Amino acid sequence: EKGGYDYFMLKEIAEQPKAVADTLLGRIGTDGRLTLDEVRIEDRVLRAVDKIVIVACGTAFHAGMIAKYAIEHWTRLPCEVELASEFRYRDPILDQQTLVIAISQSGETMDTLMALRHAREQGAKVLAICNTNGSTIPRESDAVLYTHAGPEVAVASTKAFLTQLVACYLVALYLGQVRGTKWGDEINTVIRQLADAPRQVEEVLGTMEPVRELARSLSSASAVLFLGRHVGYPVALEGALKLKELAYMHAEGFAAGELKHGPIALIEQDLPVVVVVPSPRGRSVLHDKIVSNIQEIRARGARTIVIAEEGDETVAPYADHLIRIPVTPTLLQPLVSTVPLQVFACELATARGHEVDQPRNLAKSVTVE
Ligand code: M6R
Repeated sequence: EKGGYDYFMLKEIAEQPKAVADTLLGRIGTDGRLTLDEVRIEDRVLRAVDKIVIVACGTAFHAGMIAKYAIEHWTRLPCEVELASEFRYRDPILDQQTLVIAISQSGETMDTLMALRHAREQGAKVLAICNTNGSTIPRESDAVLYTHAGPEVAVASTKAFLTQLVACYLVALYLGQVRGTKWGDEINTVIRQLADAPRQVEEVLGTMEPVRELARSLSSASAVLFLGRHVGYPVALEGALKLKELAYMHAEGFAAGELKHGPIALIEQDLPVVVVVPSPRGRSVLHDKIVSNIQEIRARGARTIVIAEEGDETVAPYADHLIRIPVTPTLLQPLVSTVPLQVFACELATARGHEVDQPRNLAKSVTVE
């Protein structure tokens, strides 16, 4: 069952290149254009959409946060992302021109289901991104884009998250393609780069031994902080969530720019802080800002664990531990930067003697509100 691995989580982490490849399969045409016919929402309807709202919980919510950056960039449509459990209680503004995207691995999460029912009652169209064929959420949606991660058994979501990201990128790029935006050329390039993601995820998986070693050395730490900017911010939140769920440690993710507005007071001698560094190419302002953040926390005694692109030498002097990831376009970086955080949490939890597949107090699918 576990294919030679000690835990389903380890098996599922290792399956990510295939899960990503399977989710891309048949969706990029030979001409390099996306074909998402299965979505069954007419292009005419997609062209009329004037707002996108994403609802999801937990890890799927983090995928939604990343999707917002991609959707707004490539489609220029306003996109909101909200925790499904909060959504309907604030009486959200929705109409026929709103496209609601509900993201759920299981397709049975009650909070997400109630949010999508509320959205449909208001006349919005709902597109589900789901990993479970025939489950309730896709059945109650107007359309569905399935992720092909295969069954995910471990409570902590890993391969489902990566495939949710792929599905979100596909939707964002497809909307850009259908609606035609000024980013047409970039969209074509990114579609090609996305096709290379399985190979890049495989590459990261091949370099995880130092991450496991580092995790074991931190097994008695009392807390770990995670920082990121732009799409690295949801990645930081995801890294912290994995550590809470599995290692039962106090773990927090912050937008690096918020540090000076409060969280920097938490920094003390030897506190491990994981920093997800954006690519130095492209949006270099982001990169420079985060390098200053790393300097600030290091000057206050933090033990810095820096996740940065291959070839980015500027961060090296401030990194107590440097974890390298392949060069990727800024928006796609979460596909590779999340992997070390999954491995880190899994190994740290194991070192603390916890059962990673069945963390205490948690269920794989949360079917109550
Ligand atoms: O099945 P869903 O994707 O709707 O589940 C949503 C969350 O319950 C889920 O992602 C949860 O946060 C995971 N245990 C995270 O690892």
